[in-house]
Amino acid sequence: PVEQTFAIIKPDACKEHKDVIMRRIKESGFAISDMKEINLTHEKAAQFYKNHEEKPYFNELVDYMSEGPSMIMGLSKINAVEEWRNLMGPTDPELAQQTSPNSLRAQFAKSILKNAVHGSSNTKHAIESIELFFKEITAEEDEATA
Ligand code: CMP
Repeated sequence: PVEQTFAIIKPDACKEHKDVIMRRIKESGFAISDMKEINLTHEKAAQFYKNHEEKPYFNELVDYMSEGPSMIMGLSKINAVEEWRNLMGPTDPELAQQTSPNSLRAQFAKSILKNAVHGSSNTKHAIESIELFFKEITAEEDEATA
């Protein structure tokens, strides 16, 4: 079935490799259903990664994710969640280089933390993330102008 996943081109990769990553996404047959470039606030990054709150890398992760603009997207395709995870490759770029040298993380990740891209692990997370980032625009704009 056609499904949706949620994707982020993280700040360093967005600055250095946005065009080539966007091209790889389109060449791989994803339709981009939602897209915007935003600089995540600390609060938003912490909210998005709340499941990692207890991890030793949490603060570094939140700093990294709010250091500059990210490209955030809803991607649709048959089997989008798994297909996007395959295109990204494993979280750890060393493993990515061994097992999937053509993956985005093999090519663009700098470390397990600065791993270039994010993708939802399942459709439930995908829907939650798309709602978090694309269905709260009015509230955010209200906050920004308040
Ligand atoms: P992502 O797929 O966005 O999901 C959680 C993020 O936490 C992950 O990519 C990495 O950026 C980061 N991360 C996961 N595991 C580690 C780790 N062991 N050390 C540092 N950062 C990590």
